[in-house]
Amino acid sequence: MNLVMIGTGYVGLVTGLGYAKLGHRVACVDTDPSKIAQLDLGETPFYEPELPELLREMQEAGRIVFATDLAEVIDGAEVVMIAVGTPARTDGFADLSFVEAAADRIGELLDHEALIVVKSSVPVGTNQEVIRRIRQKMGEVGREALTSVVAIASLPEFLRPGFALKDFMEPDRIVIGADDSVAQTTLDRLHDGINAPRVFMSLQSAELTKYAANALLATKVSFVNEIANIAERFGADIREVTRAVGMDKRIGPHFMRAGIGYGGSCFPKDVSALMQMAGTSGYDSRLLATVIEVNNRQRERFVTRVVSDLDGVRGRRIAVWGLAFKGGTDDVRGSAPMDIVQRLIGLGAEIVAFDPKGMEAAKRVLPSSVEFAPTAVDATTGADALLVLNEWPEFREVSFEAVRERMAEPRIFDGMNHLADLNLSAHGFLYRGVGLRKE
Ligand SMILES: NC(=O)c1ccc[n+]([C@@H]2O[C@H](COP(=O)([O-])OP(=O)(O)OC[C@H]3O[C@@H](n4cnc5c(N)ncnc54)[C@H](O)[C@@H]3O)[C@@H](O)[C@H]2O)c1
Repeated sequence: MNLVMIGTGYVGLVTGLGYAKLGHRVACVDTDPSKIAQLDLGETPFYEPELPELLREMQEAGRIVFATDLAEVIDGAEVVMIAVGTPARTDGFADLSFVEAAADRIGELLDHEALIVVKSSVPVGTNQEVIRRIRQKMGEVGREALTSVVAIASLPEFLRPGFALKDFMEPDRIVIGADDSVAQTTLDRLHDGINAPRVFMSLQSAELTKYAANALLATKVSFVNEIANIAERFGADIREVTRAVGMDKRIGPHFMRAGIGYGGSCFPKDVSALMQMAGTSGYDSRLLATVIEVNNRQRERFVTRVVSDLDGVRGRRIAVWGLAFKGGTDDVRGSAPMDIVQRLIGLGAEIVAFDPKGMEAAKRVLPSSVEFAPTAVDATTGADALLVLNEWPEFREVSFEAVRERMAEPRIFDGMNHLADLNLSAHGFLYRGVGLRKE
């Protein structure tokens, strides 16, 4: 099939390459010319395992091209997919301006039969609004007669940064929201080669499914953090509790990790967008409001603990391992570690940070006073405390003897319980995790 992907960010590039790998001819469009120039040179604009190799393979095979304007690539497109960003507005609603701009451009240019697919995460009703805008624009440019051959479908994306290509090729399910059987068949065929259940539903259900999945995962995180906070007060250990609770098949072992709470470019904005969307219909979602509140409080609690144990952080040198919103990615958008670092800077701490992939992006956001170390161990030199804020595997593999010798005070605050089983107290550290029995 001929596929055009509008938006070549994280999702657009990963899935565009995925569709090319499945054998389709893909054209990726992005309004950011520097991104397109970089991709044309065979370079990926962000870190994701196996992506650079797949980009080169697909470019050499002539199955993927890049463009800055839809006009260059829309001819012959059977599927036009929208994968632009839907960030949170300051009022918590989803900002749909990128989606609307993409829809308007499609309407201006489309002069043949095509299926429009919304892959961006969007509030319920957006797909219908997208097709309405496209048809309106087509009418404005004199193509009224063609509006009936343009259809819409919702294809929400569930991939995880760090495992994105694997998740594309081996998803748990493919959710297809479409009101007509031709659109359903087209999207089924588009995924030929992927062995996963297709779940067909209405546009509205597909839109809500994406938000519901992220909201449930976020709820699980806040719930476990709530239990971790209770565990601390009663001398229980959250790892023991979640292990046993997760063995219940009705609950499951995933997303049962206590820590500094969720972050990233999706969970916070999607939970907030769902809550605001519910509010516009007159439904006050108490649960979602509390999930958000517990999540924010978890970061605050962590900072308060550091400040109180160190008896103030002004002028204190604090080493930070982990800036990206989780291990395995360079994405610092909405990152809880970045938020914690900024709060500590605000309280006068001197930060020296290390993240295997996230430092370039972090440098663009953090003040110039923050030092960036070449290695995890280097970051700890002269530090009064070490904060572990995401779960890169290499943090577990350093020589803790070297770390202890370098630190001014051998004190570790582990925001993800990432080192909790390494028995660091026995190696001379003051070690504190989240929801653990005090050592
Ligand atoms: N990042 C994730 O892990 C993830 C996972 C699942 C779903 N999603 C959803 O997918 C969507 C995209 O997310 P992302 O992380 O890839 O966003 P992103 O910000 O990384 O990328 C969006 C891209 O769209 C481009 N763009 C904006 N307007 C455009 C236009 N009119 N024409 C062409 N290009 C345009 C931007 O320049 C940018 O490169 C969002 O709705 C997000 O919620 C993201």
